[in-house]
Amino acid sequence: MQNATAPHSTKKLSVYFITSVAALGGLLFGYDTGVISGAQLFLVKTFSLSPQQQELAVSAVLIGAIIGALVAGKVNDAIGRKKTLLSLAVIFTIGALLTAISPNYTLFLIFRAIVGIGIGAAASVVPVYISEMSPFQMRGKLVTFNQLAITIGIAVSYWVDLAFARAGMGWPPMFATAAIPGLLLFFGMLMSPETPRWYAARGRWDNARGVLERIEGADPDFELMEIHTSLSVEQKQGRIRDLFAPGIRMALVVGVGLAVFQQFVGINTVIYYAPTIFQSAGVASASSAILATSVVGVVNVLATIAALLLLDKAGRRVLLITGCIGMIIGLTLLGAVFATGVAHAGTMTLLALMVYIISFAISMGPVFWLMSAEVFPTNVRGAGASVCSFANWLSNFIVSVTFLSLIGALGTARTFWLYAVIGVLALIFCWRLVPETKGKTLEQIEAYWLNGRRWVAAIGQPKVKPTS
Ligand code: GLC
Repeated sequence: MQNATAPHSTKKLSVYFITSVAALGGLLFGYDTGVISGAQLFLVKTFSLSPQQQELAVSAVLIGAIIGALVAGKVNDAIGRKKTLLSLAVIFTIGALLTAISPNYTLFLIFRAIVGIGIGAAASVVPVYISEMSPFQMRGKLVTFNQLAITIGIAVSYWVDLAFARAGMGWPPMFATAAIPGLLLFFGMLMSPETPRWYAARGRWDNARGVLERIEGADPDFELMEIHTSLSVEQKQGRIRDLFAPGIRMALVVGVGLAVFQQFVGINTVIYYAPTIFQSAGVASASSAILATSVVGVVNVLATIAALLLLDKAGRRVLLITGCIGMIIGLTLLGAVFATGVAHAGTMTLLALMVYIISFAISMGPVFWLMSAEVFPTNVRGAGASVCSFANWLSNFIVSVTFLSLIGALGTARTFWLYAVIGVLALIFCWRLVPETKGKTLEQIEAYWLNGRRWVAAIGQPKVKPTS
């Protein structure tokens, strides 16, 4: 804070290196959730699973994730982001290897739940680590990089599933492969520093400055001043009950609403069950079903890249509304394929799933995680984001654990039409309640809620203007 002209030391750490290492946590989130899609075709045979047991095999990881989401915030603050991520890397690696050698169904569920704890925790710890490490002018871009890492993890898991299915090696190596990014995360984090903000919150300003001086592109004096200002604001309150204060509770409605709708439009029925869907559409072999799924995974990544480029240009609302309409069309088509039993059902299913996944990837996918970090005022941002994350994992669990039972009760066509109806509700919700936060400062967003959802001109435009 004092000396504005600290000489730049020669050994700089690239913020892209640090972000990529931490984003391995996002990649593992994607890999460890996506891997179940191809693996379940083999698990069903190995353990002779009923549809209900199959649902539980898919969802065990989500039970762990709900627990991980709940405990992550506390651990993250107590031992620091670096040590938390190092511990998560150990959980991911050991969990992957144990899952691969599960001798029976019960132990498989337990090992998957342990991996799930890592996923649920990584979902909130990684964005926090990246945002606290990024120079302020790059923060939005670097944080959304995490959603890209999630989709890359899902796509990689599909291709790995395909390779092992084709090689006739079954499910164990599919799960074991996650140990590789797990180890990379561990060693990468050993080389990465603790965040300056965590040090500062503990009064360790010298450590905070030391880290900032090592990061390429950071302005230590400016960043320290920022940290100082925001810490003094944040210390005022920041409890979950403060989220229910008049005005602010609408931010909570928007955040939690997006969290719930992101899952209840049925995205993870596709992400986790796509090969099963392809097989019931008549695609005969396991490896063709997994191949079709792998194409879906790549399209998900490409559409997410498009979304990242568009978010700050087209705005969040345009993307949300276009995406909801696209998802409704995709789901309606998907239902129609199953209702009419058309010829070439496999190809038609693939097309309908493409429309659906592209629409999700440009809208609900990235916009929910972005908005959960930007709709809350600074003093309740941590609490708000963790409530949203918890609501998201709980909804994910409910949808995933009921999917096959719904198909049993309603039939495949009506099940997808049910998600289409929820898509209509999501559309109305986004249209009526979600504000456009593109190009707004965090202070303007806060004033919007406090003024009964009206935008006010920024008086004395704040000096920092990240919108994410
Ligand atoms: C989002 C969702 C996650 C889903 C993924 C698909 O990250 O939160 O549940 O699997 O998108 O790309």
